[in-house]
Amino acid sequence: MIEHTSIRESSPTIDYGMVDHPGPVSWSDAARRDMAAIFARYPDKRSATLPILWLAVREFGWISPQVEKIAAEILGRPLNEIHIVVTFYTMYPRRPMGQHHIQICRNVSCWLAGAADLSRYLQQRLGIGPGETTADGKFSFSEVECLCYCECAPAMRLDNRYVGNLTKTSIDQLIGEK
Ligand code: FES
Repeated sequence: MIEHTSIRESSPTIDYGMVDHPGPVSWSDAARRDMAAIFARYPDKRSATLPILWLAVREFGWISPQVEKIAAEILGRPLNEIHIVVTFYTMYPRRPMGQHHIQICRNVSCWLAGAADLSRYLQQRLGIGPGETTADGKFSFSEVECLCYCECAPAMRLDNRYVGNLTKTSIDQLIGEK
């Protein structure tokens, strides 16, 4: 059965805001070494923006305004350019995240294949809404735009694993494994 719930009606906003780090942030020696290896792969620093932001997520847990600033400095790019990149992609968390991040696609193919119902089910199971983290810090949940897995809609991403043809049963299994 086709759901007629509007995407925006279900989740009025996809911008979950940005959360500051509690204090100053700086790159560790290990991160600086990895950074040098990343820069060596590209003809100019600007091209390394995405992997440097990944490194920042690994280093600091999420991209805060402070992290945007030191990423802009290291990349030699204006702060607003880094902010545009960070806020364009849903893959860069902008707030503290749980141990596992579940993302359900809310774009057309998945929504027509029942993602709205699955999202509601998952929210009930975890007791949280989009943009929230469970009280035990184990799971964070987001509704995101196309995961580029449309051929297997409805799709979700659990950390770095893509899951297609999602059902309530497979959701139960995936959560139970964690
Ligand atoms: S529309 Fe859901 S993965 Fe593309």
